[in-house]
This record gives sequence, structure tokens and C-alpha cells, in this order.
Amino acid sequence: MEKIILDCDPGHDDAIAILLAAGNPKIDLLGITTVSGNHNVENTTRNALSVCTAYGIKVPVAKGSPGPLIIDQVLAVEIHGDTGLDGPVLPTASFELDKRHAVDFIIDTVMAHEPKTITLVPVGPYTNIALAVRKDPRIVERVKGVVAMGGSYTRGNITPAAEFNIYADPEAADVVFRADWDVTMVGLDLTHQALATPDLQDRVRAVGGPIAKFILDIWEFIATTHRGLLQIEYPAVHDACCVAAMIDPTVFTTEKTDIRVELAGRWTKGMTVCNFEKMGGRHHFGGTASEQIDFRHTVAIKLDHPKFCDLVVDALERLTRGKGDP
Ligand code: BDR
Ligand code: CA
Repeated sequence: MEKIILDCDPGHDDAIAILLAAGNPKIDLLGITTVSGNHNVENTTRNALSVCTAYGIKVPVAKGSPGPLIIDQVLAVEIHGDTGLDGPVLPTASFELDKRHAVDFIIDTVMAHEPKTITLVPVGPYTNIALAVRKDPRIVERVKGVVAMGGSYTRGNITPAAEFNIYADPEAADVVFRADWDVTMVGLDLTHQALATPDLQDRVRAVGGPIAKFILDIWEFIATTHRGLLQIEYPAVHDACCVAAMIDPTVFTTEKTDIRVELAGRWTKGMTVCNFEKMGGRHHFGGTASEQIDFRHTVAIKLDHPKFCDLVVDALERLTRGKGDP
């Protein structure tokens, strides 16, 4: 089983990531931590608790950072609506938050488990993860790795250059990509292949029941904002791609690269600049020795869409008939 902590800002696709993690027997979801991103942390936390309440997901939920490290808060209201999860109707949360701040939950959990057994899966801005690194740097060596939704090597979605999770807290992303741990960047290049196509929507509809309805309601809402603002034909299920890779690493191909976060560019702030190993190491980042390349990052390239759809439908079926059923 893969032990993960899902750090998220639900968020429509975040909610599907939660369901995929809770519904697949290969994932041991140790906890959900929340962060400000798609909406403020009050709303993203309430949404996480509501999703868990609605679908019987019994894991600790710890509330995290109310805003980015340095810059002013950027929310994605135009994509996710005024609640952060507009569209589907969710119940009021009926269980309590973990008493700890998300940063302490992450540190405590990582340090309490065997080395190299926990993967951090941030799918919102990386504020909590960066603060955890700063507060207790021992976690960098202790975790198995980080599989993070964010960034891109081709295009942005909030500016021409920057993807939202990085743009919303670029300094936090810089901490995460500079730390000496294994990071897999699951960026827009990959997640724009993870579309809720009519075929996937039909398969979810065929499962039936409240969870299928919830997912279809998510896609109905997000289809409008994605089509209008981002010109994507069908809803992109960004965040679930990271969980899918934890279940089955063959769900996408990867390449080795070296990633830097642009912190100063007038037009490019929040861009993830990728130097691919396959370019033969011809480029370097200039500057001091610490800027030199080592190709220790991994970047997701090509999604196996049928496999991804199978994982989503499988988790939905398991959750619908009760986890643990054969
Ligand atoms: C990312 O931004 C958010 O709106 C989504 O939840 C996803 O994590 C995509 O750019
Ligand atoms: Ca997210």
C-alpha cells in the first residue's frame, strides 16, 4: 500500500482526488490537509470535511495555511465559484477537524512513520509543504517523495506562462523544487490529457448512486468554466492524476528534468522552467554553483487515458458499494 498525505484546496478536481484516494485499496490515505488556493482556507477546509462526511471517508483532516508565504492571496473563484466547490450540493460536515495545524500534522505523521514510506501529494498551492520543510527539514530525507500537481513545461492557465498552484504561491513552490527530495511534477501538459470525456461521464453515470451524481455535478459545473476561460473541450481532472500515479505509476510516462520556479519575471512569474535531460545537458541556469543542473526532478508527459478512466470508475464502484467489498 502507498501511504499518502493529500494536501489540497477543494476545489472540484481536488474532491475527485479525495474520492480516488479513499476508494482505491492500494492507497493508505493518512490524512487530508487543506490550504488556501481555489478559495480561502475556511471554504477549502469545509469542502474537504463535507466530502468526507458525505461519502463516509474517515481520515484526519487538518486545516492549513490561510495564505501564501509572501505574495497577496490569489483565489480561483472564476473557475471554482464562490464556495470553492459550487455546483454539487454537499451536507454539513459532521466530524471534527484534527486539532493540529496542517504543517504540524504533516511533520508529525512523516516523523512517526518509517523512513521513505510516505509520499506527500500537494494538489493546491504548496504553502503547507514549504512551511513544513522550513519548520522541520528532517522531513525532506524522511519522505518517500512528493508527487505534486502544478506547473507546466508548455503553457500556463492563469497567465500565459504560469499554472495556478505555482502562481498562487511561487515562493513556496521554489522551496519545494529546491529541496533535496524526489519531486514528480504533474503539470498542465499532463492534466489537460485527463479530460472527463463523454465516454468517461457515461461510465460514471452507469455506476449510479450519490457519488456518481456528485462527480457528474462537478463536471457539469467545471465544464462551463473550463470551456469558457481555458478553452478545454471537457473538464480537466487535474488533481486526481497525482493519486492515479500513486496507484499505478504506469498511468503516465515521465522524463527527467531540472525545474526552476520563476520568481522575478515581469510576464513569467510562477512559470516552471524545465531543463530536460534529453536535451543532452546543453543548457544550464547560469548563476552560482547552486544553480547548476542535476536532472533530479521528474515530470509527467503522456497520460494513458483509458487506464486513468478505469481507475476513476473502479474507485467510484468501490465507494458506491462500500469499501472493503471484493
Ligand atoms: C490546479 O488549480 C486548481 O484550480 C485545480 O484544483 C488544480 O489543482 C490546476 O491549475
Ligand atoms: Ca487543487
